[in-house]
Amino acid sequence: MPTRTLPTLAIAKAVPRNVDVLVVGLSESGTRAVPEAIAGAFTKRFGLSIAEMATSVGAKQGADSKRTLPAPGEGPRIVVVGLGSEQPNAEDLRRAAGAGVRHAASLADDTLTVAVSLGTEDSAQLTAVAEGALLGSYRYEPISAGPAKGGTIATITVIHAGDVKSAAIVSGAETVVQAVVTAREWVNVPANLLYPESFAEQVRSLVRGSKVAIDVLDDAALSRGGYGGLMAVGGGSSRPPRLVRLSYSPRGAKFHLALVGKGITFDTGGLDLKPPEGMYAMKCDMAGAAAVLVAVHAMAQLGLKIKVTAYGALAENMPSGSAYRPSDVLTIYGGKTVENGNSDAEGRLVMADAIARANEDHPDLIVDVATLTGACVVALGERTSGLMATDDATADLVLDAADAAGEDVWQLPIPSEIRSKLESKVADLRSVGGDRWAGALVAAAFLREFVAEGTPWAHLDIAGPAFFDGKPYGYVAPGGTGVGVRTLIALARSLGA
Ligand code: BES
Ligand code: MN
Ligand code: ZN
Repeated sequence: MPTRTLPTLAIAKAVPRNVDVLVVGLSESGTRAVPEAIAGAFTKRFGLSIAEMATSVGAKQGADSKRTLPAPGEGPRIVVVGLGSEQPNAEDLRRAAGAGVRHAASLADDTLTVAVSLGTEDSAQLTAVAEGALLGSYRYEPISAGPAKGGTIATITVIHAGDVKSAAIVSGAETVVQAVVTAREWVNVPANLLYPESFAEQVRSLVRGSKVAIDVLDDAALSRGGYGGLMAVGGGSSRPPRLVRLSYSPRGAKFHLALVGKGITFDTGGLDLKPPEGMYAMKCDMAGAAAVLVAVHAMAQLGLKIKVTAYGALAENMPSGSAYRPSDVLTIYGGKTVENGNSDAEGRLVMADAIARANEDHPDLIVDVATLTGACVVALGERTSGLMATDDATADLVLDAADAAGEDVWQLPIPSEIRSKLESKVADLRSVGGDRWAGALVAAAFLREFVAEGTPWAHLDIAGPAFFDGKPYGYVAPGGTGVGVRTLIALARSLGA
């Protein structure tokens, strides 16, 4: 599983000679940022401007419209993407760039050089286009005996008229996108190849040589340490659990952020077995761990002045003779006992261990990321993460970060009456409520019990957006999306400033 190499990214004021495809934007007032020479070639050949030609072949201004124009005989192929709005925001531009680049890749079956010209006005817009273009170039390669199929993009040049700090923008976008793409790739690798031990090894090779320190607890260490959640959930699998801890501690940092991610490499539901249609996509159940682990690495590469400690709670939830049972009582790290109400509510048990462990680092804020509940998908759909927090000020930090990153997050409450649903006759807590209502909030109320008194905490339930099995849109390809990574990086940027 080598890390995916991104196309080479460059920023230029003019379209380089010999690019194969140029992506331009279409808004209500016409095509944006089409270089003169190329526009001229069109008018000469077809007697139509690019905007007229785009409209005549059905290009629309709406987001996700993309059309290839007839080749003018000279210069590059032109792909016209809708910008969605006359005044596109950063996320509109990111999506248009991603959709354009993906469409460009579909035009050839060899190596392509692509330029993207969307009429960016400042560094922030330019960064968004650079990120979107790189993100849009990713797709998961089938595991195959044959050669790879389809076009690959070797170079992306983003066209921008003004003077900007190109090198910094390029390396920033590359770092962020490499993190997202690594998270996507780990999610996409099937669970027979990515399991707790091999996942931990992937993380080890990611951070090797960086300023991030890694510590992996294996099953023997977890058992000795009293990590009863990870041991119970991982107990049904022949592939034992791991707890990965990453730490980045730059000089002069004034804030300590702790991140915790759910890393169920496959969730069968355990003895409370899932039906086939609910099980198929469950290789994605480690997307939270993937997000937090790649995010720390990116924060270190960006040199952010913030101390970060991240935990990935890795286990495979399988039914077997050694699986944990409904009604078992487990002792979570730190001593609290939990009655297992349903073996398919495994995520909160491994998260409880990791959150309890994170408390010992005395962080200023804990943020956890987990594909935790189907209920959250029912509430918010497949593109929006649920956010629950100890308090609104903490929630706002994450909401602002998500907004800056262009990820959809919606806050949900943890009403006080929810806590009583978690009462158990045989343990300190039961892992599930007694009925089917408000499953996302019940899970959050459960996790909150393991956060040290007084520590601000936010919980992102990414069960909806972590994995996507529809048609590609914007910069999102089918499979793992890497959701959460950009929000976490934006959060660290805001806290480390
Ligand atoms: N991993 C699932 C949640 C999930 C569902 C993630 C759909 C992605 C897409 C989680 O472990 C789970 O099974 N949750 C149960 C909890 C229930 C048993 C209380 C659920 O949501 O049904
Ligand atoms: Mn489950
Ligand atoms: Zn799960």
